[in-house]
Amino acid sequence: MPTFVLAYSGGLDTSVILAWLQVHHGATVVTVTADLGQQRELDGVEQKALACGAAQVHVDDLREEFVTDYVWPSLKAGALYQGTYPLASALGRPLIAKRLVEVAREIGADAIVHGCTGKGNDQVRLEVSAAALAPELRTIAPLREWDLHSREDEIAWAAEHGIPIAATAEAPYSIDENLWGLAVEAGVLEDPWTSPPADAWQLTTDPAAAPATPEAVTISFEAGIPVAVDTVPLDGPALIQHLNATAGAHGVGRIDMVEDRLVGIKSRELYEAPAAVTLHTAREALEQLTLDRETRRLKAGLGQELARLVYDGLWFTPLRASINAFVDQASEPVTGDVRLEFCRGTVRVVGRRSPCSLYQHDLATYGPGDAFNHKSAAGFIDLFGREARTAAQRTTTPSNVLGGVA
Ligand code: ARG
Repeated sequence: MPTFVLAYSGGLDTSVILAWLQVHHGATVVTVTADLGQQRELDGVEQKALACGAAQVHVDDLREEFVTDYVWPSLKAGALYQGTYPLASALGRPLIAKRLVEVAREIGADAIVHGCTGKGNDQVRLEVSAAALAPELRTIAPLREWDLHSREDEIAWAAEHGIPIAATAEAPYSIDENLWGLAVEAGVLEDPWTSPPADAWQLTTDPAAAPATPEAVTISFEAGIPVAVDTVPLDGPALIQHLNATAGAHGVGRIDMVEDRLVGIKSRELYEAPAAVTLHTAREALEQLTLDRETRRLKAGLGQELARLVYDGLWFTPLRASINAFVDQASEPVTGDVRLEFCRGTVRVVGRRSPCSLYQHDLATYGPGDAFNHKSAAGFIDLFGREARTAAQRTTTPSNVLGGVA
């Protein structure tokens, strides 16, 4: 009898998979549910797993590890996929894969199993991550194999086999959530011209219904990592949770985008990521003050590269680790405070300060005490523009040189 480790959410798909593995493969199934801060899903997950025949149930609080090892490195790098998506789901998958592999090795399992569909990114992220960590382990993806093609098929199969599935009303959307953000897709959102209905948003206040008075918040960073809000030190999960609530109450963090999936299709997605949007905005403001121009330029490019790697499921790779090493070094001076204001769906930077600031008032000022040497600018411009003048003065171009020879 084979033993499988199943990534279990407690939803319909993974509950039916849990039973199906026992019926179809005669397997002993151990479930793993990673608590990444997705509060609304975790209630009763253990009882559901046991009711569907799990031989062993793990519900593991991985929030601290998630924030420290996955979220903070991507925040530091400024990783936003296609310039916009803060990567919540994408950052969760390598950690879930790591936990599946750990449990599989502990119990000597034959394979790991997930409930991802065959047209999404998450299957790629889980399987590439698991393969990088444990090349010997097999992966099974029932949704790609079985003949249950709809929710109705799954419910009918469960009824036929006496599997206790709570008969919940059909959900209008597909939702994936963790501390760093919530993704909403499918249903009426599949028409990219349709405005998101009010019920599509799960955790943020409608900006139109949010307070008209701005709320100020000060976020403190140490070496690129947020450590306190309004001078109160908070650990990673608490800090993110706090900002999700406060920024979310002002309607901050709503994203409506069409993104390019790794499997070659465009999809329309809503994200709610109040803390992520706020923290990326604050970090950027502090980098403007503390990093030199050339470091900022290279770091911004590598941040985009990192976002692509994370999105594509390539977390456990040498390139990802190398980019994070660069980002760690570059972020050393990113220490200080950023003051922001939330108001009706927006977050605005209104102040920044740092002991590592490169901003020099006597060089910047147009007022009294100006220490900038205006005269030296003339020589600078003469040399800086040298190449451009030479090129502009050239009368013979490569094409008419070649033309003349031929
Ligand atoms: N499109 C997003 C991504 O690829 C969100 C995926 C959400 N997953 C889900 N099972 N609904 O990262």
